[in-house]
Parts: sequence; structure tokens; C-alpha cells
Amino acid sequence: MKKWLQFLVVMTSITATSALLASGGFSDNGARQMPAVANAKWKAECSGCHMLYHPGLLPERSWHKMMAGLDKHFGENASLDQATRDEIAKFLALNSADKQDNRRSNRINQSIPAATTPLRISETRYFTSKHDEIAASTFKRKSIGSAANCAACHQAAEKGDFSESQIKIPR
Ligand code: HEC
Ligand code: HEC
Repeated sequence: MKKWLQFLVVMTSITATSALLASGGFSDNGARQMPAVANAKWKAECSGCHMLYHPGLLPERSWHKMMAGLDKHFGENASLDQATRDEIAKFLALNSADKQDNRRSNRINQSIPAATTPLRISETRYFTSKHDEIAASTFKRKSIGSAANCAACHQAAEKGDFSESQIKIPR
């Protein structure tokens, strides 16, 4: 190897290693959990039928598609007046998985093929890989309902915290 090339390789690996150490062992620059986010209209309009889903759980294109079809939202009519809809859509886009720098959002994003626009977090490859040891019958328990009810098992789900210390599967 040429001297200058050798030098470059060594320098690059030192830089990469220190970046890795600084971020706690992960190559992402951000935190492990999603940051707490807040918007009054989002909280009021998107938590009436189910838990509040953190915007960092889906990419911007998914939120965009969802907010454009609220009249046919998983079999429900969740329509909003245009000003409210626009404000929530903007908030979701701004804090979406592809606009965030935390380990969780980055992994979710990486698990979604660029050509697809999922509306369900519970159908992303990231979700299925993290829950492959949970039986379908567990998700169907009365105390849980479905895989979409993250908050039944993840006590801090609405804050965007899915750390293992915050998990308790109800009977
Ligand atoms: C009128 C009731 C209703 C309202 C209001 C509502 N939703 Fe839903 N939403 C549903 C139903 C029903 C489902 C499917 C739940 C299931 O499969 O367990 C759903 C599912 C979802 C899912 C997919 C969850 C998953 O990963 O499987 C997301 C994301 C979502 N809603 C976001 C929103 C957002 C954002 C808003 C506010 C703009 C909103 N919802 C308002 C009824 C509602
Ligand atoms: C039936 C209970 C249950 C439900 C409902 C559930 N989870 Fe989980 N989840 C778990 C368990 C248990 C684990 C730990 C799996 C393991 O470590 O092997 C886990 C792991 C995770 C992890 C990885 C944690 C880590 O640090 O590795 C994430 C992220 C996560 N879940 C997100 C979600 C989201 C988002 C939803 C809703 C769309 C959801 N979960 C619904 C039980 C649940």
C-alpha cells in the first residue's frame, strides 16, 4: 500500500471509531430513543381512538399519505377541517422517521423499502423483527387488542420511549 493511502486508511478508521464511541457504540449521531415531541392538535385529534403514535415511527411519505386519506382511515372516518389537518400533517412531517436522528427512527427507516409507503408501523420489517417471539394469541388478548396497541406493553410508548426497561406484557 502506498504511504499516503495507508495514512488515509488509518485516519479514516480512527475518525469512525471515535464517532462510534461518542454515540455510545452506534453509528447514528442521535440518541437511542425518540425525543419527546408535542403539538396540542395532534394530541387532541389523534388519540381519541387509539394511543398517540410518535411521528418518529414512520417516514414522512407515510404520514403524508395517511393525512391525505383521513376519511378512509383503517375503516374509520377520521376527517378534520383543513387548517387542523394541515397543522398536524406539518408537525408529523417535521418529526418523521426520516427527519429524526435517533437510533430507533433510523432503524425503522432502513427497514422500509424506498418504493413502499406503509401506513402501519406494525407491518414494517423493523416491527416484525423485534416482535417475532411474541405469539399472535398474545397480541389478541383482551388487555392488548392488536399489535398496533404499543402502549399496552410499552409503558412509555406515547413519549417515544421503547426501551426494554419499559416493557410489561399484560395478562
Ligand atoms: C375515528 C377513530 C380514529 C381517529 C380519530 C384516528 N385514528 Fe388512527 N386508527 C384508527 C383505527 C381503527 C386504526 C386501526 C387500529 C388497529 O388495527 O388496531 C388506526 C390505526 C392507525 C395507525 C396504524 C397503527 C399500526 O401501526 O398498526 C396510525 C399510524 C394511526 N392510526 C395514526 C393516526 C393519526 C396520526 C391520527 C390523527 C390525525 C389518527 N390516527 C386518528 C382509528 C382512528
Ligand atoms: C404484546 C406486547 C407488545 C406490543 C403490543 C408491542 N410490543 Fe414492542 N416489544 C414487546 C417486547 C416483549 C419486546 C422485546 C423483544 C425482545 O427484546 O426480544 C418489544 C420490543 C420492541 C422494540 C425494540 C426494543 C429494543 O430496545 O430493542 C421496539 C422499538 C418496539 N417493541 C416497538 C413497538 C411498537 C412501535 C409497537 C406498536 C406499533 C409495539 N412495539 C407493540 C412487546 C410488545
